[in-house]
Amino acid sequence: MKGLILSGGRGTRLRPITYTSAKQLVPVANKPILFFGIEWMRDAGITDIGIVTGDTGAEIERACGDGSRFGVNLTYIPQSAPLGLAHAVGTAQGYLQDSPFVVYLGDNLVKDGIAPLVREFERDQPNAQILLAHVKNPQEFGVAELEGDRVVRLVEKPKEPKSDLALVGVYMFDKTVWEAIASLKPSTRGEYEITDAIQSLITTGYNVRSHVIQGWWKDTGRLEDLLEANRLLLETQERSILGNVDDASQIQGRVHIGAGTQVIRSEIRGPVIIGENCHIEDAYIGPFTSIQDGAKVVASEVEHSILLEGSRVLNIGGRMEDSLLGRDVEVRRDDRKPRAYRFMLGDNSQVSVI
Ligand code: DAU
Repeated sequence: MKGLILSGGRGTRLRPITYTSAKQLVPVANKPILFFGIEWMRDAGITDIGIVTGDTGAEIERACGDGSRFGVNLTYIPQSAPLGLAHAVGTAQGYLQDSPFVVYLGDNLVKDGIAPLVREFERDQPNAQILLAHVKNPQEFGVAELEGDRVVRLVEKPKEPKSDLALVGVYMFDKTVWEAIASLKPSTRGEYEITDAIQSLITTGYNVRSHVIQGWWKDTGRLEDLLEANRLLLETQERSILGNVDDASQIQGRVHIGAGTQVIRSEIRGPVIIGENCHIEDAYIGPFTSIQDGAKVVASEVEHSILLEGSRVLNIGGRMEDSLLGRDVEVRRDDRKPRAYRFMLGDNSQVSVI
């Protein structure tokens, strides 16, 4: 069994972060989303993994390397343009050949990993196996219609969904998928849809098995989903204090503080993860916050947020929440006269003032 992770695409819903970085490398609980996918494949016994990449291929390759740090062999497969998931899978046909394989969307997170499902696919050898999850907004996903346990129809982002069962971004196929992909036409949104390829397998009478997953699953394409994934992962965070915490500070609950980090006159209420060489002073860091290496929070409160490497929140006095700061972003109070908001924001940035 081989693995394929799709990490091309454009990431428009996470701009401006994705102007300079791949959406699959945005960290949740201080780990790039893509790494979870690689580790889940490895834990399911899959060690030959192809990664389909687009414009951000070089950055993804730099971050993941040859896979030895995960205990797998990674092969990078550039996609000519983001023409859809089925096109991305088709691009990897030369790598996958006749092997059965698992496709994992690089921006998805599935809580419980995929090992039992891979084992079941290997044991029973259906032509395809898909995962489904009940969601509140099915029109934003591929949606399945079931008769009993049997999938009868799959529709990509239907305006009027016939069920609340969304297609999760983990699919398993045998070689019959190649003929289904070869016969596809672009959808109304102009993409070669994996959903249509699976529908074609169903129509032809192949055995497509489905599973409704019980644990949580997140497509991290939007900020609120990313923060929610961060929250869910931090729920299982362990306490470990490697940095320096002064006597005037209070650390409550499951908090990780990385080596070289200084915490001075601050209160940190877990679950929280703080990376290495950060500076936290006269600050409050509230639950469900992930702070990456080299960040600084001074005289400010931060809760339910993700701060990327080297970002700084300085003297804002009030509380920042539900926020994502990119690398080296600075948010600070400015006491100069005349008193005014002063911004330098990239395209598609969002700021809420009170
Ligand atoms: O998250 C689950 C959903 O993923 C499914 O319910 C949908 O049926 C499926 O079409 C897909 O929808 P999205 O619109 O969320 O897919 P997105 O464009 O975000 O792409 C998913 C991943 O695949 C992402 O890591 C980028 C990568 N990708 C995407 C395209 C379009 C590629 O590598 N190449 C591509 O051409």
